[in-house]
Amino acid sequence: MRISVVGGGYVGLVSSACLAELGHSVNLIEIDKKKVTCIKSGHSPIFEDGLDEMLAKHINLNLKISSDYNDVPLSDATFICVGTPQSHDGSADLSMIKAASHSIGNVLRDSEKYHVVAVKSTVPPSTTQQLVMPIILENGRIKDQNIGFVMNPEFLREGRAIQDFMKPDRIVIGSSDIKAGDLIATVYHGLNAPVVRTGITEAEMVKYASNAFLATKISFSNEIGNICKRLGIDVYEVMKGVGLDHRINPYFLNAGAGFGGSCFPKDIMALIHLAERLEEDPILLKSIITVNEHQPKRMVDMLEKKIGSLSGKKVAVLGLAFKDNTDDVRDSRSIGVILDLKNKGAWVAAYDPKANVSMRSIIPDIDYCSSAAEALKNADACLVMTEWPEFSSLEKEFDLMKSRIIIEGRKILSCADCEGICW
Ligand code: UDX
Repeated sequence: MRISVVGGGYVGLVSSACLAELGHSVNLIEIDKKKVTCIKSGHSPIFEDGLDEMLAKHINLNLKISSDYNDVPLSDATFICVGTPQSHDGSADLSMIKAASHSIGNVLRDSEKYHVVAVKSTVPPSTTQQLVMPIILENGRIKDQNIGFVMNPEFLREGRAIQDFMKPDRIVIGSSDIKAGDLIATVYHGLNAPVVRTGITEAEMVKYASNAFLATKISFSNEIGNICKRLGIDVYEVMKGVGLDHRINPYFLNAGAGFGGSCFPKDIMALIHLAERLEEDPILLKSIITVNEHQPKRMVDMLEKKIGSLSGKKVAVLGLAFKDNTDDVRDSRSIGVILDLKNKGAWVAAYDPKANVSMRSIIPDIDYCSSAAEALKNADACLVMTEWPEFSSLEKEFDLMKSRIIIEGRKILSCADCEGICW
């Protein structure tokens, strides 16, 4: 099939490369010229396992990238994969969805070929029907029989996005007409996954409900972990026992510093905003965020209890990315921790295997180190914020510290004298 993808960010780029891998002819549209040049040369502007190899294999063959929408009418379907960041009031900012819809509507106006527009971006329920569809149809020249609309949410985890695309747990296709949904189902032929067919608004809500539920599991585990810590109980042993109940399952029960990233915090805030607009009080959703905001603060409190005033103390912060296997620091739990440490007068020496550069653009005035050992040298304390596998073998490097005060926010270290946030 010929497929256009609007937006060369995380979701759009991974989806484009994977759709090309599935054998489709993909036309990726990205307005940022720097990104276009980078991707054209076969390189990914973001760090994602396996993506460079996949781009190099398909770029300029069955994967083309440009900044214009000219080829959209030649495609069978267009996926909208632009960002829906958090607005100042917590709601989802839909300005990029609007802009993409206008551009798609403009080029499709005189097309006589059947075309399906599929929204992949995470959008609040009704956005596809009340915003995307009217904008695309506003010129009144696209005939009803030539256009269909679908909502097809993505469930890609950063760092594991290619695997999640190629081996999904499920493919959700929301459509109001069968023909449009069938066409998008054909795009995924060859993938071995159940296809869930729903209405458009239901598909939009599946994404929010999935992310909110996963975040609930994490905040729940953190709350249980905080109680366990008081009682001297190992929450990881507890959750192993809990997770083996098939009604619960063992995933996303890792207690620690809480969740960050580009999706969970913003999607839960958007859901809270939506609920409040509907005059509902989303007590549980608000608690998920409250627990998540408290978790990193607990690490700094623990540190102060151990070493007193942080003023003038050197604190090594290991891990800046919001999780392992990515250079993304969006809403990373280490941001709040570093700012807290700085406010209390500590000297922060930070190290991350991939995310030093991205964190420097948010917090420029701390020391960035090229290894864990460099950060630990003469440090008064160490906080571990990301579950990078390379941290699991740290042991003798801690001897470089002035004193071995080590607090981990992710259960990753193997040394016996470190203290966990909830264990
Ligand atoms: C998430 C969803 O998993 C994905 O389906 C959606 O499309 C986008 O958002 P992502 O943000 O890439 O993916 O990361 P994920 O692996 O889900 O982790 C999110 C955060 O939760 C990380 O900060 C991670 O460290 C934390 N986490 C995860 C925990 O604290 N405990 C866990 O048990 C699991």
